[in-house]
Amino acid sequence: MARITLRQLLDHAAERGYGVPAFNINNMEQGLAIMEAAASVNAPVIIQASRGARSYAGDIMLAKMIDALEEMHPQIPLCLHQDHGNDEATCATAIKYGFTSVMMDGSLKADAKTPADYGYNVDITRRVVEMAHWIGASVEGELGVLGSLELGCGEQEDGHGVEGEVSHDQLLTDPEQAVDFVRATRVDALAIAMGTSHGAYKFTRKPDGEILAMHVVEEIHRRLPDIHLVMHGSSSVPQVMQDLFNSFGGEMPQTWGVPIEEIVRGIRHGVRKVNIDTDCRLAMAAMFRKVATENRSEFDPRKFLKPAMDALRDLCRERFEQFGAAGNAPKIKVVPLAEMARRYRSGALDPRIGEMTEAA
Ligand code: G3H
Ligand code: 13P
Ligand code: ZN
Repeated sequence: MARITLRQLLDHAAERGYGVPAFNINNMEQGLAIMEAAASVNAPVIIQASRGARSYAGDIMLAKMIDALEEMHPQIPLCLHQDHGNDEATCATAIKYGFTSVMMDGSLKADAKTPADYGYNVDITRRVVEMAHWIGASVEGELGVLGSLELGCGEQEDGHGVEGEVSHDQLLTDPEQAVDFVRATRVDALAIAMGTSHGAYKFTRKPDGEILAMHVVEEIHRRLPDIHLVMHGSSSVPQVMQDLFNSFGGEMPQTWGVPIEEIVRGIRHGVRKVNIDTDCRLAMAAMFRKVATENRSEFDPRKFLKPAMDALRDLCRERFEQFGAAGNAPKIKVVPLAEMARRYRSGALDPRIGEMTEAA
């Protein structure tokens, strides 16, 4: 069995200079495809479930499905992560169901749409860190609000995210505040805002530094070289996938996602976890459309799901390779939760914040 914490996995990724894609999951087909991809290239994997996924599949189903995936692929270190936890209870119940890592997204209030002030974010994140570290689980925090620098607004994806106008300042994580946040909360990983947003409609043109502020990633990494950074909203929305979806009756307006080369640049500057959901959805949905269009009499769900799983598997394999995670699974010896808890208590895993944190 190889259930790994986010902290141990990202420590390994940092030592070896790679990034780990974190794929969202809602059902068995996605789980099978992601694990098949990971096993085919020997990559460690982060599977994450949103609150929406937990209510869609149900905690019991989700937990037992992950147990089964782990049993099928015992050689693959698997981190099960709560995506965008909105309060203490969401994070605590996730851990109860076998999640080894939680995101406490205190950039928003518990309603998951109102921007929270800095004090609220620090307090709630610190409380979750204390609770999680007692049993060895990891915590990702978020500082800054995800949304479009191009349009000056937040995004609302399936009920999550800010609605309407957001100031430029809120849409970019402040590097100095990031240092204070990590020191005050002791998070294991930090999600930052630099112009990415959830969903397919991130940019209306190929992004440049004006609308995808990778220099913010570099500045935060310069000040916090030992902290694992997380990029949300990191689907690339590849043109070929948009074209495939549209060629079978889809109506997706032209859009741009985060170019792979920008993610790879981020990985060179401390990004260790790269969140991808939209690309997975699009890969599967394009195949549903293809089957429905080409075989109009087909009604066996498996005939839709199997090609969709194959497309998702190929996408995941490509990302494992592009981010350098491929080949790393056998190099990791999984540390049990109880040992991680002991290390937190001894101070061995305290965030290292040194002289590099001063402004240039
Ligand atoms: O956080 C955004 C992810 O794409 C999850 O989306 O809440 O619809 O499951 P969801
Ligand atoms: P995408 O919508 O770009 O795939 O982002 C997913 C994400 O950040 C989940 O937390
Ligand atoms: Zn996200």
